[in-house]
Amino acid sequence: MREPRPNRYRTGWAGDQRAEGVGRELRVAGWVHRRRDHGGLIFIDLRDRTGLLQLVFRPEENPEAHAVAHTLRSEDVISAVGQLVRREEGTVNPGLPTGEVELNVRAVEKLADAETPPFPVDEDGQLDEMLRLRHRYLDLRRERMRRNIELRHEIVAAIRSRLDPLGFLEIETPFLTRSTPEGARDFLVPSRLEPGSFFALPQSPQLFKQLLMVGGLERYYQIVRCFRDEDARADRLPEFTQLDIEMSFVEEDDVLEVAEAVTQAMLAAGGVSIELPLERVPYDEAMLRYGSDRPDRRIGMEIHDLGEVFAGSGFRVFADALASGKAVRGFAARGELTRRRFDELTEQARRLGAGGLVWAVVEEGGWRSPVAKFLSPQEMEAAARAVGAERGDAILIVADTPATTARVLGQLRLELAPAAVEGHDVFWVVDFPMLEWNEDEGRWDALHHPFTAPVGDLDSDPGTWRSRAYDIVWNGNEIGGGSIRINMPEVQERVFDALGIPPEEARERFGFLLDAFRYGAPPHGGIAFGIDRIVALCAGEDSIRDVIAFPKLASGFDPLTGAPAPVDEPQLRELGLRLAAAPGARARGEEAPAPQHPEETGTAERR
Ligand code: AMO
Ligand code: AMP
Repeated sequence: MREPRPNRYRTGWAGDQRAEGVGRELRVAGWVHRRRDHGGLIFIDLRDRTGLLQLVFRPEENPEAHAVAHTLRSEDVISAVGQLVRREEGTVNPGLPTGEVELNVRAVEKLADAETPPFPVDEDGQLDEMLRLRHRYLDLRRERMRRNIELRHEIVAAIRSRLDPLGFLEIETPFLTRSTPEGARDFLVPSRLEPGSFFALPQSPQLFKQLLMVGGLERYYQIVRCFRDEDARADRLPEFTQLDIEMSFVEEDDVLEVAEAVTQAMLAAGGVSIELPLERVPYDEAMLRYGSDRPDRRIGMEIHDLGEVFAGSGFRVFADALASGKAVRGFAARGELTRRRFDELTEQARRLGAGGLVWAVVEEGGWRSPVAKFLSPQEMEAAARAVGAERGDAILIVADTPATTARVLGQLRLELAPAAVEGHDVFWVVDFPMLEWNEDEGRWDALHHPFTAPVGDLDSDPGTWRSRAYDIVWNGNEIGGGSIRINMPEVQERVFDALGIPPEEARERFGFLLDAFRYGAPPHGGIAFGIDRIVALCAGEDSIRDVIAFPKLASGFDPLTGAPAPVDEPQLRELGLRLAAAPGARARGEEAPAPQHPEETGTAERR
């Protein structure tokens, strides 16, 4: 960082001091990171954003400064002046960038007192997340958080410097708007001037970026907050940030090339280098081989179709499945698994919707499996060959619909993945189906969103349509997704129709978009990246909350400000609102219910 403008508080940064500067007169300012008293001498590690510098207070040389130092406590705010000196032989700290020098303090001023912090700021231990978030301003003083915030800045800066020369304009779009559906619930904001009417916070700027293309702006991007009222998880929050991009007169290759360039720039800023172009994997292939549309391919353990192997099998479970047009698939799990583990895996397969799980361990000259007697040696050998199982490996097999088989085996594969895998794998998933059947609601949902261009005969069964959508996957995480859009009103109306949205409703909700399409909409397409996820992956953090300055808990609650909170009766009246029920227990700060997500077991979830 450039040297600060010298003022009464400081003339230099703490963390920038090196042996070259020895002899210089220096004033530094910051927080008391740690204080050590060594018979007479007092040492204080002073911390500012750039790092730590050791201050020394010598009682004989500077009794006044020494007396002040004696009263200083952790996290007090001070400014100290003195001479930068070389540390004495034997006291050099090679673990600290400023470890060769120290400031021999002549005078020190206390600028602000600090109470004892509720958790240590100078250690990197496991802390209760609830406590951290309640005092986020202290948490941000910790080195790990500071690094994450700096990294986030670097990544965002890299985006801007990569996109600007390509002619992209950074354009802001409204937050108080109408619903922009991305498959989640909307956050609503009541209107005071029109009681009974509501704004929706955008789930993404999707419709506005398309309107910018109709507006002839050609190349748009925005680093933008999106709001989705859905259950949060480690990689999902109700409020998150996208890098949103849209381009006109483009096909897939054009968007993917820009997206790859910006991905490379973001990851490079995060210390990860990737080679371009990225591989493109069709959705069907990803589902078949990995049972997921965002697979971590580094794990190996690919899933294989075993329909041919078990055609004509004497084992009823497989024979019945194949006879009714279902799939039989499996993969090889490396390493030894206990009987108990197999039982757990079988239980998990059942919970995920499979009828059961067949497992067989390849042994010297045979098989160990609860269903060994139903399976012929020829079948088992062919199955082992197909999945690449060697002696000691287990073959795991599920028979069910292709979708269930993929889901179950995909999950088991993740369950059995080694704790750590090397390297990075970034690639595209392409060729998605346009729609997916929503069993609960009995209707088609858009797999991407309703503005994605469909491929195929629009007079045929919508279940057969594909889409011009693409997702980008990094080490098993979906870090971005986009599509070529519909730019013809008739096609957009046909898609609304397939989604079961009646024309009047389509007009009511999206009339402005359909109208815009009547005035010459260019072919266009784009993508949005999840910035929080990308930064978290670069930082090696498991939770995106750790790369956001002021995140919410998974419950959507903000322990720092106490939001969401009840509002006064007059405020409600002004908005034309009346509550049907008393404010919730959570808003009143009472014990919250158990976490909604079993995978979220962090203490922070227990409010
Ligand atoms: P999509 O819904 O796939 O696409 O979102 C794009 C990317 O945003 C990230 N993301 C999230 N990150 C944190 N918390 C969340 N709740 C969350 N939801 C999504 C993911 C995801 O890949 N308008 C389209 C883009 C387009 O078509 O151009 C859209 O929003 O990393
Ligand atoms: P069952 O006929 O339910 O007693 O199951 C016999 C064996 O086949 C058990 O080991 C089950 O776990 C297994 N099994 C049952 N249904 C399936 C299925 N759909 N796919 C794979 N294995 C199954």
